[in-house]
Amino acid sequence: MSVLIIDGGTPLKGRVTAQGCKNSALAILAAAALCEDKVYLTNVPDIGDVKTMMGILRSLGYKVTWGNGLTIKPGVIKNYDLTHTGAGAIRGSLLFLGALLGRLGKVVLPMPGGCNIGTRPIDLHLKGLSLMGADLDIQGGNIVGVAPGGLKGAYVYLDFPSVGATENIMIAGALANGETTIENAAQDQQVVELGKFLMACGVKIHGLGTKVIRVKGKKEIGGVTFRISGDSIEAGTYAIAAAATRGTITVDGVDVTFLRPLLFKLQEAGIEVVVTNGHEVTVLPSPRPKGITIKTMPFPGFPTDLQPLMMSLLATAEGRSVITETVYDGRMGHVSELWKMGANIEVEGNTAIITGVEKLTGAPVVANNLRAGAALVVAGLSAEGRTVVYGMEHVMRGYSNIHQKLRALDAKVELVSDEEAVNIA
Ligand code: EPZ
Repeated sequence: MSVLIIDGGTPLKGRVTAQGCKNSALAILAAAALCEDKVYLTNVPDIGDVKTMMGILRSLGYKVTWGNGLTIKPGVIKNYDLTHTGAGAIRGSLLFLGALLGRLGKVVLPMPGGCNIGTRPIDLHLKGLSLMGADLDIQGGNIVGVAPGGLKGAYVYLDFPSVGATENIMIAGALANGETTIENAAQDQQVVELGKFLMACGVKIHGLGTKVIRVKGKKEIGGVTFRISGDSIEAGTYAIAAAATRGTITVDGVDVTFLRPLLFKLQEAGIEVVVTNGHEVTVLPSPRPKGITIKTMPFPGFPTDLQPLMMSLLATAEGRSVITETVYDGRMGHVSELWKMGANIEVEGNTAIITGVEKLTGAPVVANNLRAGAALVVAGLSAEGRTVVYGMEHVMRGYSNIHQKLRALDAKVELVSDEEAVNIA
């Protein structure tokens, strides 16, 4: 268990490089289970969720080693039952459904965990894979799947452009017999990147980044060397932190296409941003932001993963802001912690009405999920006085070296254990 102690009020300044994209890495690690030969991945973020996925691959029989990059060498696959592998702790493990049904024709997977942000059903994953010939059942808290005759290409319409369901069906489609069409597919960064990985493995895919994706299955998939691109949500986190502290930073190493929705909203709030070469964003020093309205939506809408962070920024905006969360039914857990710091936020269902205050004040707060924790870190950086963020292990699941990166941007932060925090805080 770890705790971040933040002495707030210092404007961030400097340059930071985005880590490799967390959610792309998770999808690609699951897809690596399809490969018969060595997979070598670079720019993999050193975060908790990646380590969990590495553990799952090892339990399947893959040799996974981390040097300059991550090497995944297939051995004899000795396992298809992931109930005791830590898979139940994260949502990304759900993608082993498609991977193992494709590779082995059978799988047992604990119901996935992940962030506490709402009900998060898995019906679209199950429906899609069933259409492809899998027989899936929930038994004793596990998903038990078989595809006795192998998976076959199918036409799958998604009621909602679910990122995970799109990915699972793409992964399953890669080894299916025939062509799989996904209609109303997700268009997010990790979906596009998973597709690029599969294409680099020789799978034919059309329509990546659009609402209709077609995957032509292969009999066998070899190995590949692949670089994971910069994480737009991590990059966005640092950009928002700069704006919240009225600082100026440059974030590089990220495809700005996936940051556009955020950049539009920052500009609407009066924060100046400059984009260079499509891969670099500079947030210029700005006065107090103005209140704005945000509604989260699947990409290219405003990303739900940045919603809590924008709330921390808008907590000190001039006037009123309205944030409506439409992707998840329970992603307002950060509000009660922001109240402790003096924020004026009313919540009605999935809408938060934020009346900006002049400043937040430091307080002890608790992160109950990844992005809520990151939002509290942003609030603490902008607040007057000391903020102590408990539950940083949630944040470390998705942000590599956040404390060191912030320190390099002039922030006064220290990461300590729970025991050390008792003496310092
Ligand atoms: C991915 O989750 C990300 N996680 C999430 O990142 C992100 O918030 C989300 O996409 C949306 O962008 C990973 O990639 C590991 P969804 P995923 O399926 O795939 C409903 C972060 O902070 N739904 O698009 O689980 C679901 O309940 C996180 O990094 C169904 O109803 O997202 C939710 O309301 C957290 N049935 C909505 O769709 C299903 O079968 C979006 O979920 C599947 C989803």
